[in-house]
Amino acid sequence: MIAASALSRLLKPVAPLLPTMSISDVADRLLTPEHKAFLSLPVVDAAERPVGLVSRSKLQDIFMQRFGRDLRGRHPIHEVMNPAPLVVSLDTSLDNAAKQITGQLQYPITEDFILVDAAGRYRGIGTVLDLLKAMEARIAQRNAVLRKALVDLKESQTQLVQSEKMASLGQMVAGVAHELNTPLGYVKNNVELLRELSAPLFLLAETQATLADCLNDPACSETDLAQALEQAASAREQAAPELLVEDLSQLFSDTLYGLGQIAELVVGLKDFARLDRAMSEEVDLNDCIRSALVIARNSIKDKAEVVSQLGELPRIACAPSQINQVLLNLLTNAAQAIDGFGQIQLKTWADEAAVFVSVQDNGRGMPPEVLARIFDPFFTTKPVGQGTGLGLSISFKIIQDHGGLIRVASEPGRGTRFLLRLPRAQAAELKWSA
Ligand SMILES: Nc1ncnc2c1ncn2[C@@H]1O[C@H](COP(=O)(O)OP(=O)(O)OP(=O)(O)O)[C@@H](O)[C@H]1O
Ligand SMILES: [Mg+2]
Repeated sequence: MIAASALSRLLKPVAPLLPTMSISDVADRLLTPEHKAFLSLPVVDAAERPVGLVSRSKLQDIFMQRFGRDLRGRHPIHEVMNPAPLVVSLDTSLDNAAKQITGQLQYPITEDFILVDAAGRYRGIGTVLDLLKAMEARIAQRNAVLRKALVDLKESQTQLVQSEKMASLGQMVAGVAHELNTPLGYVKNNVELLRELSAPLFLLAETQATLADCLNDPACSETDLAQALEQAASAREQAAPELLVEDLSQLFSDTLYGLGQIAELVVGLKDFARLDRAMSEEVDLNDCIRSALVIARNSIKDKAEVVSQLGELPRIACAPSQINQVLLNLLTNAAQAIDGFGQIQLKTWADEAAVFVSVQDNGRGMPPEVLARIFDPFFTTKPVGQGTGLGLSISFKIIQDHGGLIRVASEPGRGTRFLLRLPRAQAAELKWSA
């Protein structure tokens, strides 16, 4: 019974008054040093049940009157006693006792409260001041617990944010790996084909060298020369270099194109994942969009065509990899909201104060009860293992840290539109590091 012991720590075992005592006796007792901390003294009957409380202020009122003590000193105390004092059972919890006492307390506070055992027998009194101190200590203790909980929560939030970053990094790497695979595949095929096609050319070069050697050598016999000529002619026929010219140049340009695509992806990846230096980096958001599109291409291409209307934008100060993370999440969400094959519209524009990005899909849309919760951490309608529900809450935080706004409009069955607004002026220092 921790609660009961909390209250019993407030208990002061003051000797009670008897109803038959006189007002003077009580006044004398209240004046003694051991009673000076109390505002009142309890009155208890023969069965140890509290029947009232005599307060110091009541007695003072009497003694302040002219001849007060002479006139009323001999009267019994029940004349001045409060017959309905505050009585609290010792097995009450500290919180409930506080509620009970503050609920009945009269102001100014002129009385203490009486503590009784479970059978209702007097055990002592407690002061309101001690009760307040005990409550204060308890609140301080709870605050400490809450503060610790907050620290723990922040730590696990940081971990979650980190794991969400890792998840989007994994998603990005998978997307890029997939994108790299296609050009890599045909560059490899082309190179193999080039090797195959060039083999007869090497043979041709070799036979022609033999022929040239024979022609330059006076000791070369007629038969050897005839053989060298024949071999050179057959190698030439086999290699058919005049037919190869077109094939080879086509193969070389295809291969170069493939390598160009690979290079583009690598640049995109570097842009996407670049560690943000300061917020002072001036970025064209259209570049962020292009880079996010390269990364998301793999997860979008079977779900939707992307229609971009990218307006001319001023460069703005931002952390590009974070903005990329937001865009990637909006694009992935849009693709995931589409059943069958749909459309994602991307638009950018600017006014004097801000740059705007709109990402609109014609997917499932959201009912109001979903819409109301999408920015809550962990809110997801996706199956377990597919969505963490952190994407939008992190996006919200990133945009907020950039001094921007993120707005959404959605209609079930028709689609969803997210609008980002990022201020042109340098936003406050970025709180999140990349
Ligand atoms: N374009 C959209 N169309 C319809 N619903 C959406 C769209 N974007 C978000 N939502 C809804 O908002 C929820 C929360 O999105 P959020 O990006 O925060 O998490 P998630 O996509 O479920 O998971 P994660 O981003 O971690 O993979 C989604 O589960 C989905 O119900
Ligand atoms: Mg998401």
